[in-house]
Amino acid sequence: MSDKAILEINGQKHEFPLIKGSEDEVAIDIKNLRSATNGVITIDPGYKNTGACESAITFLDGEKGILRYRGYSIEELAEKADFLEVAYLLIFGELPTQEQLDQFHSDIKKHSVVDDDIKKIVDAFPRSAHPMGVLSSLTSALTAFNPSSVNVDSEEEMYNAIVRILAKFPVLVAWTMHKKLGLPLDYGDKNLGYVENILKMLFKQPNEEYVQNPILINALDKLLILHADHEQNCSTSTVRIVGSSHAGLFASLSAGISALWGPLHGGANQAVLEMLEAIKADGGDTKKYMGKAKDKDDPFRLMGFGHRVYKNFDPRAKIIKKAADEVLGDLGIEDPILDIAKGLEKEALEDMYFVDRKLYPNVDFYSGIIYRAMGIPTDMFTVMFALGRLPGWIAQWREMRLRKEPIGRPRQVYVGETLRSFKERKDR
Ligand code: SDX
Repeated sequence: MSDKAILEINGQKHEFPLIKGSEDEVAIDIKNLRSATNGVITIDPGYKNTGACESAITFLDGEKGILRYRGYSIEELAEKADFLEVAYLLIFGELPTQEQLDQFHSDIKKHSVVDDDIKKIVDAFPRSAHPMGVLSSLTSALTAFNPSSVNVDSEEEMYNAIVRILAKFPVLVAWTMHKKLGLPLDYGDKNLGYVENILKMLFKQPNEEYVQNPILINALDKLLILHADHEQNCSTSTVRIVGSSHAGLFASLSAGISALWGPLHGGANQAVLEMLEAIKADGGDTKKYMGKAKDKDDPFRLMGFGHRVYKNFDPRAKIIKKAADEVLGDLGIEDPILDIAKGLEKEALEDMYFVDRKLYPNVDFYSGIIYRAMGIPTDMFTVMFALGRLPGWIAQWREMRLRKEPIGRPRQVYVGETLRSFKERKDR
């Protein structure tokens, strides 16, 4: 393979180096394009063909349906690892020894109390507030109570900010859900495992002991691992670009939460359940909704289907679909919504509109069915996505900072009015 690309502009040839990643992905390095061509730039709405960075964290191959964290397959990690272990792997690059994992969890537990004044912010929200808006606000507010987390240049200072947010974020998630449900804002038990503590904070009723359920522990562990990172998706790119201005980690994460909220991104898991409920209420007429999804005049999309990168099955969707059967079976739940989802998937995979566009179920298509079976309210589903994605956002932010990457500032092509003189109001 040649190691350069040649671009001819107005009869003049320009050479640009090609770079190749460890999985043989090839990119044209256009760092000098504008200076070499007297101002010519590229344009690529949605960055469908543009790499923002080199990264060593997550590899995915959309055509083959491959997803790996630091070289380990998502299938192996979902089967054999636990969430805190995967968080360590994503952030620091290696699977931890037992001693390293114990130290990491111990460092996190030291910061598992959130300043009580944060409860005043929670109280100020109406109970009808969308949990993603609450969570984004509380995450940004954490900065005020942890000022040392902002100006972090050394690895040690970054580590201190990282263990703080890994400790406090699950508390904010639980308080966000309890605000909505009118339950007290309380804590779990720092002597529990990371995921067990999350379950206790989410589900413990104020007047009874919480009994851990291994089915829920395993289901949540697996769901959080499957959501933990996904290279340069919309919310991760947001965390990286906000962090590139050296805004603090918590402020960068708050921005990422807002990006994830959108129904085209993480908000899709809530939209999938609402879509399936609507189909059920409409007599289960999946063909009608398939028609709406294909109708260009109808804004309706088949939520949980399609993906910017996966043009094959999203490997996470395969694992979650299997887990949905297992969890509902283990919990003894018969949910007609699952059958509607499977019927919709079968129809879509046989429909040329979806086949031609390589639209397959993505991570969001089945995840809400498990969250619902666990007792999580529908508008909390994307909050659970954020809880899973937290270590990935942290890992990507840390990589960007350690590599001292420049502030993100894309160019544009101006297509507005050319120079014109001011017109007095009386003459307009
Ligand atoms: C996530 O990037 C990530 O990695 C994200 C994520 C992560 O882990 O971070 O994987 C999580 O966000 C998963 C995606 C969740 N979103 C949804 O399920 C919402 C429904 N899906 C779509 O809106 C859409 O598929 C996107 C947003 C996911 C991807 O959109 P693209 O890549 O911009 O593709 P597109 O909109 O250009 O669609 C290409 C064609 C179009 O038709 P034509 O104009 O070619 O005729 O496919 C059609 C679209 O209309 N299409 C759909 C569709 N998705 C795409 N038609 C009906 N239903 C859909 N779901």
